[in-house]
Parts: sequence; structure tokens; C-alpha cells
Amino acid sequence: MALLYKADPTRGEIWKRVLADRAPDLEVRLWPEVGDPRDIRLLLAWEPPEDPIAAFPNLEMILSVSAGVDQFDFSRIPPEVPVVRMLDPNIVEGMVSYVAMAVLALHRDLPTYIDARAEGRWHQILNRPAAERRIGILGAGRLGSAVLAALAPFGFPLAVWARTPREMAGAEVFVGADGLDAFLARTDILVCLLPLTEETRGILGAATFSRLPEGASIVNVGRGGHLVTADLVAALDEGRLSAAILDVADAEPPPPDHPFWTHPRILLTPHIASHTRPETAVDAVLDAIRRHRAGETPIGLVSRDRGY
Ligand code: NAP
Ligand code: GLV
Repeated sequence: MALLYKADPTRGEIWKRVLADRAPDLEVRLWPEVGDPRDIRLLLAWEPPEDPIAAFPNLEMILSVSAGVDQFDFSRIPPEVPVVRMLDPNIVEGMVSYVAMAVLALHRDLPTYIDARAEGRWHQILNRPAAERRIGILGAGRLGSAVLAALAPFGFPLAVWARTPREMAGAEVFVGADGLDAFLARTDILVCLLPLTEETRGILGAATFSRLPEGASIVNVGRGGHLVTADLVAALDEGRLSAAILDVADAEPPPPDHPFWTHPRILLTPHIASHTRPETAVDAVLDAIRRHRAGETPIGLVSRDRGY
């Protein structure tokens, strides 16, 4: 039985070392050195080959190196091959610090100070109390709930939007399409931490922006496909939205003439909010393999119905 790693080659060398250390019996191969494709039972991948089963006829399980699994074409993966998303604690830690940074930057008007500095302008803005800045998080899963807990001490009124009802300490919970309008109407800084699915694609578009309070701002740490670029630019230019901090884009990197690089009210980072660190992620991978071998359901199993 062999595990094939198919993602960033530099991190592949680290995965190989860490797995050799922790699971010496597991044979690890690094793409494109596949060897006999019939040996490959486990695939640890960012993007699998187009037709994973044709490529690896004995494939038993796919482990995603990322928390998001929108890059997988599930129509090419039979339902009996489980797909498990990445549950590395380093992803949570990175996301918490990134979103805290972005929310605080927007709360304390950093985009305006960056503009003023470029113009040599000493421009003071009276700070708004946290109690008057309402934060809304789209998504209340592993990352959304950790971000929520990290923002709690600042005193912002907090809310989340999810697909299914739940209680969350310190936050108002809004659910499904019926809850979206009320959630948006009370949100000054909107953070997107949704998975990209057919239901969530384009959710950061004109319809959503028009329901936010005038001058609201957004943070997109989900996927580029959540955001409609032309709608964002129009909303920023009209002043309907005041600023956007984006970590993801439809094409990464965006082409040189893309407004994400140049728009004065957009701050772009290169998809670094969080990443998988083999040294901490290895526990989740080995636990999934152990559960799979024991006939148990791996934690982080992707639901084919929901798409996340
Ligand atoms: P998760 O645990 O699966 O949580 C997803 C949340 O979104 C859940 O609360 C879910 O609701 C909600 N949701 C999904 N579809 C919805 C819909 N149609 N309507 C309302 N709510 C919906 O995922 P996660 O681990 O928190 O990760 C979220 C996403 O973050 C990933 O999919 C990935 O795209 C992105 N990400 C980005 C980076 C980066 O560096 N920028 C890093 C890691 C992850 P329920 O709870 O009701 O199911
Ligand atoms: C990164 O974007 C991830 O989904 O883990």
C-alpha cells in the first residue's frame, strides 16, 4: 500500500520526511514519481489527476491538503472513495490571526490612512467604539467559529450565517436563505468563510452588497469564486462599500491589469491567510488513515450532497 502526494513539491519533501518519521510502514511517493499506479491506495492531493480511478485503479481514499475541496471534480470520484478535507490546526491558527488583522484594520480605518499617507495628508478619524461595529461571518464551521471566538474579547456585536441552526455563545445566528437579509442588514464588516459550492458561488455580489448598511466593508478569505469582481468595484466606486480586504481571487495571481492590484479601496494578499503545515497536519492525516483502515468514518469526510 502506498500514499501518493500530489501538491506543492517543496512541501512534498517535508510531508515525506514527517510521514517517514511518524508512520515508517507507510510507503510515500511524490508526484510525478508514481511507480506502479496499482500500488497507490491513498492520495494526498491539492488537485488529483482528472480521472483519479483510471489513473489509480486501487485508490481507496483521497485526502485533501487543503480545508477547501472546491478544486475536486466529484463527478470523477466514485462515492465509495471517501474524500477527507484537511483539519490541520495550523489552518485554524493562521485564519484566526488573518481575520482578526483584517477586521481590526477595517475597524480602525487602515485603508483610509494608507491613502492619506500616499497623499501626504494628516487625516484623523474619530474611532468608532467596537460596540458600534457589527461583524458578520458567513460560515460558522471550523474556521468561522474559531474566528468568532477570537473576535469576542474586542466587544464587537457578532453574528454568523450558516446552513443549519445551532446555538453559538456570544453571537446571533442566522440560518439559510431566509436568514440572509436580516444578517446582512446588521453587518458592518462582512467576513466570508464559506466553502465554495454551487449555492455559495457569487454570494459576494451586487444583491448582497445592496443589503449591507451603506459604507460596510468586506473580507474575503473563502475562495475567489465567492466574489463578483465587477460588482465589488461598482459598490466601492459608488461608496456603497468602503473597503475590501481580499486573500483569494478567481485567478491566482490575478492578471496585471486586474483591479485587485490597483483599486485604492482594495487590499489584496496572495492566498496566505492560512496554510497547511505538514508537521502539524500529519496527525489528522494519520488519524484519517487509521479510521479508514478500521472501517470507521474519517473526521472531515466531505459530504457529496453538500459539496463540503
Ligand atoms: P466548514 O467547517 O465546512 O464550515 C463551512 C461553514 O459554511 C458551515 O458553517 C456551513 O454551514 C456554512 N455553509 C456552507 N454552505 C452554506 C450555505 N449554502 N448557506 C449557509 N451556510 C453555508 O469549513 P471551514 O473549515 O470553516 O472552511 C471554510 C472555507 O474557508 C474553506 O472551504 C475554504 O474555501 C476557505 N479557506 C480559505 C483559506 C485561505 O487561506 N484563504 C484557508 C482555509 C480555508 P453548516 O455548519 O450549517 O453546515
Ligand atoms: C486553503 O485555502 C485551504 O482551503 O486550506
